[in-house]
Amino acid sequence: MTTLNIAAIPGDGTGPEVMTEAVKVLQAAGSKFDFKLGLTEYDLGGHRYHRTGETCSDETLEELRGHDAILLAAIGDPSIPPGILERELLLKIRFAFDQYINLRPVRLFPGVPTPLKDKGPDEINYTVVRENTGGLYTGVGGISMKGTPHEVASQTMVYSRHQVERCLRYAFEYAKHHGKKATGRGEENTVALVGKTNVLTYVFDLWERAFHEIGKADYPNIKRDYYHVDAVCIYAVQSPEWFDVLVTSNMFGDIITDLAATTQGGMGLAAGGNINPDPGGVSMFEPIGGTAPNFTGMNVINPLACISSGAMMLTHLGQTAAAKAIEDAVIFVTANKLKGTCAGEMGYSTSEVGDMVAEKVAS
Ligand code: IPM
Ligand code: MN
Repeated sequence: MTTLNIAAIPGDGTGPEVMTEAVKVLQAAGSKFDFKLGLTEYDLGGHRYHRTGETCSDETLEELRGHDAILLAAIGDPSIPPGILERELLLKIRFAFDQYINLRPVRLFPGVPTPLKDKGPDEINYTVVRENTGGLYTGVGGISMKGTPHEVASQTMVYSRHQVERCLRYAFEYAKHHGKKATGRGEENTVALVGKTNVLTYVFDLWERAFHEIGKADYPNIKRDYYHVDAVCIYAVQSPEWFDVLVTSNMFGDIITDLAATTQGGMGLAAGGNINPDPGGVSMFEPIGGTAPNFTGMNVINPLACISSGAMMLTHLGQTAAAKAIEDAVIFVTANKLKGTCAGEMGYSTSEVGDMVAEKVAS
């Protein structure tokens, strides 16, 4: 029997509560689909930082590297200055394992209310491929003359051809296999580049040239579109059905996927994966949302984003039937059980929602 060695990082706030449910569901899937879950828990996050000062040491990184994948629930704590856990833990893992793709499906499940008028599951169904290790997140910049009236701060958007190219290729491959035509939802598979070619005339010139060169040479059957990032914010609300696969830079991807998550019923449902697609790469799956400190310990937070991130992890590890069973179970629960999707509005507790998904997977 296959054993999947998973490093679980429950993290802070409501992270441990949603992780418990994700593990419950993964275990149910393992029993049904004949794999074993070899789980190692890592208590990284705010508690560990307060206790020991450690965010994520090199030794811990090496241990994580020994796993098939990482599942992270949420990290961040209001008692810790912003940037420490983000940069020294979350981004550190993304960078150390070269998880250069952040895959964020935007899918409105049946039964889930969306704030978008007259839009349903057929219209809100697309994927954002966010470049995940470059751009403004690289940390190029600094402050000089700090604290004086003349101080200067800079933070530079940097991209190499290599970074741009591997991200674009992933997006084209993704569209080829999961685009609208590939999945019987439309006439064409489309990749749209999201940028700001009218202002960021260096970085997005590089992206745009690489996009068309690669598309033309290697993916002639995939349609290519382009949107400015500000326009995407309009269309994501007005015409999300225009989108199939969107590919974009790190910061733009961060921002538009929060907007997109709202259209799919909120952070409680938005799953994602930090992926290193290369052979031997270690990927980390994590819900898009944060730690929701106001709801911590109340058993009211929605665990479905973490559960769905677990399903994405299984897909990545080749357990596609198990992943599909979890996705179907999540859809069954949203369509037939939940009264709402936000914390405290589900009509069920966090653990009850996990139970219902696990039962459905097992059935
Ligand atoms: C996300 C988060 C992170 C990011 C933060 C916590 C560093 O907002 O995963 O979207 O900006 O990537
Ligand atoms: Mn974000």
